Formats: sequence, structure tokens, C-alpha cells
Amino acid sequence: MSRAELTLLPEWQALQQHCNHVATGHLRELFAADPRRGERFVAEAVDLYFDYSKQRVDDEALRLLRALADARDLKGHIAAMFRGDHINTTENRAVLHVALRATRNAHILVDGQDVVPDVHEVLDRMAAFADAVRSGTWKGQTGKRIRNVVSIGIGGSDLGPVMAYEALRDYSQRDMTFHFVSNVDGVDFAEAVRDLDAAETLFIVCSKTFTTLETLTNAHAARAWCVKALGDESAVARHFVAVSTNAEGVAKFGIDTANMFGFWDWVGGRYSMDSAIGLSTMIAVGPDHFGDMLAGFRAMDEHFRSAPFEANLPALMGLIGVWNANFLDAATVAVLPYEQYLKRFPAYLQQLTMESNGKHVTLDGAHVDYATGPIYWGEPGTNGQHSFYQLIHQGTRLVPCDFIGFGKTLQPVPAQGGGDQHDLLIANLIAQGEALAFGKTAEEVRAEGTPEALVPHRTFEGNRPSTTILAERLTPFALGSLIALYEHSVFVQGVIWDIDSFDQWGVELGKQLAKTTIAELVAKDEPKLAHDSSTNALIRRYRALRDG
Ligand code: F6P
Repeated sequence: MSRAELTLLPEWQALQQHCNHVATGHLRELFAADPRRGERFVAEAVDLYFDYSKQRVDDEALRLLRALADARDLKGHIAAMFRGDHINTTENRAVLHVALRATRNAHILVDGQDVVPDVHEVLDRMAAFADAVRSGTWKGQTGKRIRNVVSIGIGGSDLGPVMAYEALRDYSQRDMTFHFVSNVDGVDFAEAVRDLDAAETLFIVCSKTFTTLETLTNAHAARAWCVKALGDESAVARHFVAVSTNAEGVAKFGIDTANMFGFWDWVGGRYSMDSAIGLSTMIAVGPDHFGDMLAGFRAMDEHFRSAPFEANLPALMGLIGVWNANFLDAATVAVLPYEQYLKRFPAYLQQLTMESNGKHVTLDGAHVDYATGPIYWGEPGTNGQHSFYQLIHQGTRLVPCDFIGFGKTLQPVPAQGGGDQHDLLIANLIAQGEALAFGKTAEEVRAEGTPEALVPHRTFEGNRPSTTILAERLTPFALGSLIALYEHSVFVQGVIWDIDSFDQWGVELGKQLAKTTIAELVAKDEPKLAHDSSTNALIRRYRALRDG
């Protein structure tokens, strides 16, 4: 096995040296030394205002990060992705989610074949179907119109659609309900359909492979529920559609492939929400809003491909993430949307970032000797302020934060004493970034008359880095551009770390072992267990608890 060579690059070593110098400084000093820092360390593109002035970088760090990007040939890698090269080397696949939002007149070749006509053929079929369901032309088995949509999928076949539905709820058809079933825990399915009338319910079974245990298990449960309620197998044709790359699997399940919406192996699961996997989103918000969302993605794609790195939002976000992870040793990133509609955005980003960059070997299979993908997590503001922000402000770990907010709310609610509740929300967003960066010195605490014994407890060291992203309003376009920003920043980091951001072998072992274990759990007689002593004991205890 070869040795990972990243840390041997002169650009990496220069960053390491520079970090020793910058890391000892404080954001207070950086701001004091440059009164215009708050305007200079800002980039703006695709209607997003991206303020990274509260990150612990200076001009030299940024220059060195760009030099590292050049040394890793980031430009060449971007071109290779957009060109359709097989950059997912361990699966020998192209990575072309950008083709999903290409305009009709674009040409993108995969293995010599233009994929854009296929993309638009599926988008057109989705639009016709979404319109039919929304207008009531598509009827259920008994002639009733569809009022409820239940999307069944998991991972990339679930998180994008749930997040987008929640994010764009204000644009959704309010006389319909939308539900998402993912967990193999039967509770998820049972609670989703509990109050639904099968005659008015459409199931969308979303699975790229159509082999995923959770999705097929839930799809079978849904079919049994639907057939029982409607009394006839023929109901499946009016109440089930599928989204998959596996027509054979779909047909075997019993869904007519005329009611299947396809996509392609060059779309990774976690990059698939604007393929047919987004069918539930399209039914919820309508084809026009879905098209606006794709336009937001596309605008960010074009920006990423063409803007110089110093003004390129995904490049800046990705490179600052490398700085925080590798040079400031931050193991995590908190994503903090001050927008209730984005409540599932952190969960969505967890798969996007961690399934992509949670890798321990390079493309050549060498073990890395540097940190790769950080842990992403978060909650919408202001809830987090009353739970985990304590640790971010005064704990011993460095937690870089992404604050996300909007100038206009979709739900104005007058606040007591004047103004709108939205001003209160955004006041909190702005205040948190300021508090994290500048803190409160012991002298300032003392000056407030605080008893000496409490001074250390009430002191805020500050110097906690954050980025603030602002947009005018949470529109479908803004959502698309925000997601594409994160998608491409993940790509930037994968290139720097020399890893395959597009495979996910790490999910396989658990799946494999679960197959053996399920046989042992359901065996009639006491099974012969060949695991370690803990696993054997857990299996015995579970059987005893279940059967006792
Ligand atoms: O968790 C592994 C994974 O393969 C994800 O990458 C994917 O999004 C998810 O499972 C669902 O896969 P499928 O769409 O094939 O059911």
C-alpha cells in the first residue's frame, strides 16, 4: 500500500507553519488589525451572501489554501466531474448530478452518450404525473382523488425529499398531505398511515437499487395495507409508483414499469434529490417550483465551475473546512439554520457530507495520515441556544458553525412590543456569531461588578469560528443554490483529501451481518451462535425479552 502524500506537499507544510502563527492569534486581533475585515472577507454569488470574516483565517491562510487547491489540481478535478469522467473510481462511475439540472439545450456526455435528453424526458413525465395527481385527474382505485402521498425510501432516497418538502412547505399544495417512511422499525410505517384512507393514498417507492432491505420491507407492508383496505391486488396499479434504476426489481415487486420513473448509475443516492427521487417534492410544490429549485442548483453549478477560487463560494467553504479540520483540529461542523422550514437540513447534510467524506484511504488505497470528513450536526435556531450552545461557547472543543438565515420570513408574525418575530430570530443569529467570535474578557466581566469567584465562569474566551450565510427569502431557487453550495464544498474537500467522495463501502459490513443476525433472531430453536461473547449474549437476551 502506498503512502498518502498530501502532508508531504510543500503547500500543506506551508499551511502547517502558518497555522502555528495564526492559531495563536484571536479573532479580536484580526478584526482590530483590519477594520474592513467584515466587508472584505465576504463573497456573494447566486443570491447568497457568504460572510467568512469570523473564520480564523487571514489573507495568507487563504492564499495558501488556494495554493493547496492548485497543487491538488482542483480546477482539473472540477472539469473532470462536469465532463463525465469516471471520477468515482471504486465503482467506476461518472458523477453527474450536475446533469440533473442542466438546461434542455445542454449536452453532457457519459461514455459518449448525451444524457440531457434522458434527464428531460424523465422530468417531463414527472411533471405530467405530478400535475395529474395535484389536479385530481389521477384517481385511485375507487375513483377518489389522491389526497395523501407516502414516499418510501431511505438515505439518499429519503433525506432529500423530506428536507425539501419541509423546506418548501409554504409552496406546497395544502389540501394534500405528505409522509415519509424510511426506518425498518414498523412504527415508522404504522404511524405514517394510521389516519390515512387507502383510497386516497399514493405510495412512491424510491430506491436506486430496489434491493434496500428497509425500503422493500416497508413497500411490502404498504402493499399489504393497501390491498387489505381496497380488497384487490389490482389497486397496486393506481396506488403505487416507483423511482429506481432497476426496472427488473420494480416489475418483480409488482409495480408496472409504465409507472416507474428512472434515473441512472451516474447519480449518487445522496446527490439524487433533483432526479426522479424528488417526485414527492414535485407533487408537493408543483413542476414550476421544482424547476425553480433546479435553476438554483444550476446557477451554483455554473458559479462553481467558472468563478475564481477567491470568489467561489463552494471553494471557499470547502477550503476553510479543510483549514478547520486539518490545521485547527476541529472534528465537527455545526449547521445552524435560523429558519424553521430548514429543520431537516442538518440531517440531510449529515448524509451528504459524512457518507461522502467519511473515508480513511486515498483513491490509491493508502491509509490517510490526516483527518478527513468532519462530523456534521445541528438544529434550527434558536432551539440549539438553549441546549448545546453552552459547549460551543465555553466548552473545550472547537466547533466551527455555519449560521444560515433569511432577510424576509415566509410567515410574518407580529412580535409583542413591535416588529416581527423574525427580527428576534435574526437578532439571535447575528448575536451568536458575534459572541462566539469576540467573547467577553475577564476584565469586561469584572467591570460589570461580578464577584471574583464567578469571573472565570462568566468569561467567554471567544475566538470560536463561524460562517454566516444570508439570502433574501427561502425560495425554491435559494434552496437549490444552498444545497449545491454544500454539495460542491464536499467535492472540494474530497479532492484535497484525495478520497473517493462518491462511494459508500462503509455501510456494507453492518448490512451483511444483519442478514446473519436476523436468521438467528427468528430461528425456531435456540440457534448456534458463532459471534463474539457480547454479540451472542445480546442475541440470547433479545430472544428472551421478546419471547418471555
Ligand atoms: O446507506 C447506503 C445507501 O446506499 C445510500 O447511499 C443510499 O442513499 C441508500 O442506501 C438507499 O439506497 P437505495 O436508493 O438503493 O434504496
